[in-house]
Amino acid sequence: MKSLFLLTSLIFPAIAQVPLPTPFLPPNATAGAQPSSGGSPNPQWSTLLGNAIYFYEAQRSGELPSTNRVKWRNDSAIHDGSDAGLDLSGGYYDAGDYIKCTYPLSFTIMSICWGASDFGKGYDMANQTAYLDDMLRWSLDWLMKAHPQPNTLFVQVANADLDNAYWGGDLNIPEPRPSYQINDTNPGTDAAAAASAAFSACSALYANRSSPSPFDARASLQNNTYASILLTHAQQLYQFAQNASGGQMTYQTSVPVVAEAYASSSYQDELTLAALFLASAENSTDLYEQAEGYYKKFGLSGYDGVFNWDSKTPGLAVLFSQLAQAGLGGDMSMWQAEAESYFDDIVNKKGPGFLTNGGLLWYDGDSDDASLNPALNAAMLLTRYAPLATSSDKTTAYLNFAKSQVDYALGKNPMSAPYVVGSNPNSPSNPHSAMASGGDDIGAINTSPEQEAYVLYGAVVGGPDEKDRFYDIRSDWVETEPALDYNAPMLTIAAMHVINDTSDPFFTSIQAGEYLKNKPQGTPCDAAFPCEASELPKGAMIAIGLIVGLVGLVIVALGASWIWFAIRRGGKSESA
Ligand SMILES: *[C@@H]1O[C@H](CO)[C@@H](O)[C@H](O)[C@H]1NC(C)=O
Ligand SMILES: *[C@@H]1O[C@H](CO)[C@@H](O)[C@H](O)[C@H]1NC(C)=O
Ligand SMILES: *[C@@H]1O[C@H](CO)[C@@H](O)[C@H](O)[C@H]1NC(C)=O
Ligand SMILES: *[C@@H]1O[C@H](CO)[C@@H](O)[C@H](O)[C@H]1NC(C)=O
Ligand SMILES: *[C@@H]1O[C@H](CO)[C@@H](O)[C@H](O)[C@H]1NC(C)=O
Ligand SMILES: *[C@@H]1O[C@H](CO)[C@@H](O)[C@H](O)[C@H]1NC(C)=O
Ligand SMILES: *[C@@H]1O[C@H](CO)[C@@H](O)[C@H](O)[C@H]1NC(C)=O
Ligand SMILES: *[C@@H]1O[C@H](CO)[C@@H](O)[C@H](O)[C@H]1NC(C)=O
Ligand SMILES: *[C@@H]1O[C@H](CO)[C@@H](O)[C@H](O)[C@H]1NC(C)=O
Repeated sequence: MKSLFLLTSLIFPAIAQVPLPTPFLPPNATAGAQPSSGGSPNPQWSTLLGNAIYFYEAQRSGELPSTNRVKWRNDSAIHDGSDAGLDLSGGYYDAGDYIKCTYPLSFTIMSICWGASDFGKGYDMANQTAYLDDMLRWSLDWLMKAHPQPNTLFVQVANADLDNAYWGGDLNIPEPRPSYQINDTNPGTDAAAAASAAFSACSALYANRSSPSPFDARASLQNNTYASILLTHAQQLYQFAQNASGGQMTYQTSVPVVAEAYASSSYQDELTLAALFLASAENSTDLYEQAEGYYKKFGLSGYDGVFNWDSKTPGLAVLFSQLAQAGLGGDMSMWQAEAESYFDDIVNKKGPGFLTNGGLLWYDGDSDDASLNPALNAAMLLTRYAPLATSSDKTTAYLNFAKSQVDYALGKNPMSAPYVVGSNPNSPSNPHSAMASGGDDIGAINTSPEQEAYVLYGAVVGGPDEKDRFYDIRSDWVETEPALDYNAPMLTIAAMHVINDTSDPFFTSIQAGEYLKNKPQGTPCDAAFPCEASELPKGAMIAIGLIVGLVGLVIVALGASWIWFAIRRGGKSESA
């Protein structure tokens, strides 16, 4: 009965509890080229945090509230869920398109709530707590609608193939927009667990659970009613993930169509994370031990890849350490060793990640599709773990490395480009965003219109290529697309800098025009602009190699005879 009451009460959208201040509006990008007078909180970091949150407001789906600050956005997709007899309107569009994807959204909110639990004071100092609350509730209230019954979770709204065939504004989004669910017979362990982790992380934030962070400094968000509503969803989803009668499996096994957008590689990391965040939200040593059991059972130790929407393992050791320090149990030094073996490999370049010539942390494969994301997620984890490190040398090394990646993203790179839209005159001006572009011709994305219609303030874009080149081409979704999950680490990073950094973000030292001097000619060589060599299968490469070899021999032979001929001719002319 209790959960029934809770679920019914969720049908009415919750109103942001923290009153919105005099509206914060992102300043013109030119303001980002003016060094501030410093001090605490640093005004430029405060603005960057405000812009990063504002990006989410531009991504809103559904009926927009009267407090909407993004004037060029309209109500949209208000009938979402009608095919299932439900109201699934609201929430956020995933990226530059109009699909709504629960799995990466869950990661995004988990990351932001976790970050705000550690660095909440940064939001307070920047006067952004009300917007954080508003942003989180717009996500969480939708996620609750997407979880209408304990064992049902809607994992996607709209079909990615249909949506990809549309390029245009928010008034003509193509219909139908089917909704896809997992349920007891056709479950998705990863998607259910990821949503559970998001609810738990945010429940802990709204419950003002004490954090072991030296910045033990929470946003003034506390609302025990909301925290307990979120907790109920977290508990139900954790149970659903663990015990669905269909078994444990990835969500695309049950709903293959989601693989067009976000196929998950496994569910082990999500299940472990869900147990651990629930331990945090419930203050439960039992759940902490369950999470430890999963970590062992699934053999997650020693993973050395990226942290992102699909792969959460590197965050686990950090959270295990934080909760151990908070007294939830566990062997703190064991978890520190686990975390530090991962971070030391990154900092000492002993893992699969390496630095580009310009200094960006790069993972072959993951970085090829959105290079800033692995680097910023690593910086975010390093920043948050650094105070727990076992030696001050490590703390310093971790913070320095994190800073190098944040500096890179904010303009200390061979392009002199800060990769946050609208933050500086050298920021990307062509984000791959159908709604911001103002165009409606999918055959002429780059030229119609010439100039992007609206500035998508605060959006972190995909990022440069492995040679640090950034082309700023609207149709190049690899480099220029924004996404909910790309922005998430920037919020946590900016909140920390608001608290603990009096100097400006790097971009205030870059004057207008610098990027244009460095901008590469032509087109990149990536998934949006495939260049032939990298697209050919290995057999073809060998064949080409043979041909090139043969042609080379012929050229050498011709060259040799030419030289021989030239020498003879020279000799002749000399003698003439
Ligand atoms: C706390 O959250 C609940 C549920 O969203 C909401 O109804 C209530 O107004 C909030 N309380 C305050 C003091 O804002
Ligand atoms: C920002 O200011 C510059 C210089 O005053 C102006 O040229 C530009 O149009 C403004 N941009 C926006 C988006 O308002
Ligand atoms: C926050 O708001 C207070 C009160 O209006 C104001 O004095 C302060 O300058 C603001 N700080 C920032 C970083 O916007
Ligand atoms: C919102 O509607 C207005 C017309 O009322 C239109 O000019 C604008 O482009 C629309 N926004 C988007 C993102 O399509
Ligand atoms: C359960 O989910 C599957 C996969 O999405 C779907 O085909 C089926 O219709 C759902 N069952 C119910 C009762 O809605
Ligand atoms: C939240 O907890 C912190 C200490 O962890 C405390 O300083 C703060 O006052 C609490 N906030 C509220 C609203 O109770
Ligand atoms: C899952 O099912 C097992 C056995 O049926 C039970 O012991 C366990 O408590 C269940 N877990 C949850 C989270 O409900
Ligand atoms: C968490 O539980 C421990 C006992 O296991 C207790 O000492 C502590 O006060 C609890 N913390 C909170 C925030 O409830
Ligand atoms: C805050 O910054 C100072 C120096 O800039 C650094 O020594 C300290 O470790 C930082 N604190 C944390 C918790 O990151």
